[in-house]
Amino acid sequence: MRIVVVGGGCREHILTERLCREGNTVYSVMRNRNPGIERLSSDFSIREETDVDGTVSFAEGKGIELAVIGPETPLEAGLADAFTSSGIPCFGPSRDAAEIEFSKAFTRRLMESYGIPGNPIYAVFDSFDDAAGFLDGCSSDIVVKPSGLTGGKGVKIVGEQLSDISEAKVYVRELLERKKGSVVLEERLSGEEFSLQAITDGKEMLPLPLAQDHKRAFEGDRGPNTGGMGSYSMSDGLLPFLEESDRERAIYIMQRVLQALRKENREFRGVLYGGFMLTRDGVRLLEFNARFADPESLNVISVMKGSLTETLLSSATGHLKRELSFERMATVCRYFVPVGYGEKPITGTEITIDERCIGEKGATLYFGSVNASEGKILTTSSRSFALLAKAEEPWEAAAILEKSSVCVGGQIYSRRDIGSREEIERRRQNGIRLHMAPDLG
Ligand code: AMP
Ligand code: GLY
Repeated sequence: MRIVVVGGGCREHILTERLCREGNTVYSVMRNRNPGIERLSSDFSIREETDVDGTVSFAEGKGIELAVIGPETPLEAGLADAFTSSGIPCFGPSRDAAEIEFSKAFTRRLMESYGIPGNPIYAVFDSFDDAAGFLDGCSSDIVVKPSGLTGGKGVKIVGEQLSDISEAKVYVRELLERKKGSVVLEERLSGEEFSLQAITDGKEMLPLPLAQDHKRAFEGDRGPNTGGMGSYSMSDGLLPFLEESDRERAIYIMQRVLQALRKENREFRGVLYGGFMLTRDGVRLLEFNARFADPESLNVISVMKGSLTETLLSSATGHLKRELSFERMATVCRYFVPVGYGEKPITGTEITIDERCIGEKGATLYFGSVNASEGKILTTSSRSFALLAKAEEPWEAAAILEKSSVCVGGQIYSRRDIGSREEIERRRQNGIRLHMAPDLG
């Protein structure tokens, strides 16, 4: 098939690689010049991924039979609707359905009005005075979220990024003055986060193996929130701190949300990705995304058996292919990011990558937000590239990544704790604590 993939990061690199391997001819639209995608694509167009008209006419010119949208910003811009109107089946939801990601206020209210479990206590505000009044009546366990898209970096927690309620008010005022939508204030939850991605045609869904991202910039979960520093998955598709019933609960919440979206005439086609947290009181929903996770898409796609092409096409056309199976392997993915990432990244510096060396060590390379220029690879302000390894146990995959890191260089760093035996054990112990009855804990 002739397929266009929109997006220029690691997620789109692995999608493009897999779709090419399955015999498709792939064209790409991306804002940066990703060298991994560039060499796999039959042709590519460098443009903003939110350039809806330009992207659709590029695709029409290539006789595209399936569009695959990677990131969230084109979904908010209505790219899926535009592909559908021009007769090109699109893997990726309509603007109305994608609101589940780009409006946190919409999501919280949808879950509340359909009686779907998983919401924390929350309130939505458009007026500073109302929000300030609410904050005055709160204990300090509160989280401030802009309702709209922020690339994973807009959430601030009192006690972490905000020192107290008065700093929370300053942040709320700043967000409302930006006039980009409402502010959501919610109860601060604590526990272990996990990602559940499911491919859906809006009616049925195919849950993918669970994965756990590491949002904080530095080892030991310290530092600013980022787009995600790396992730792991286990051979059984569960995570060390979860029980099967937790996974079933997350699946149930997602199924109910899909039903609710259908009722609202917002049928969702693509990947629904729930960012959940296992807390002492059970599974809670932090946010939904309307796309594959980055980096957790690397964990799941690398172990997916069968035809990704057929699966994506069947979702796009509303007749989901039911069967999907996975290799029984653990995976670990670590992003390499520019020094200063999360706050003030050093951009435009050269990085060196010895791909043959990476292959010899047993890992796979995926390019992220870099630019290829005159034979060099330059950093941008975002995550540069990821290394991925598979093994029976995550720490064995992590050991492969340790060995591979000698193959790369530049003003970049990665989180070396991701997938390590100590980290996995720490999370397993945390799961035991979280599952204890509250009155025993
Ligand atoms: P979100 O964009 O909503 O996923 O939030 C980004 C990150 O902020 C999450 O991955 C969590 O680490 C944190 N976060 C979001 N909501 C909450 C909450 N209610 N309680 C504690 N942490 C949260
Ligand atoms: N794993 C973080 C994200 O995709 O938003």
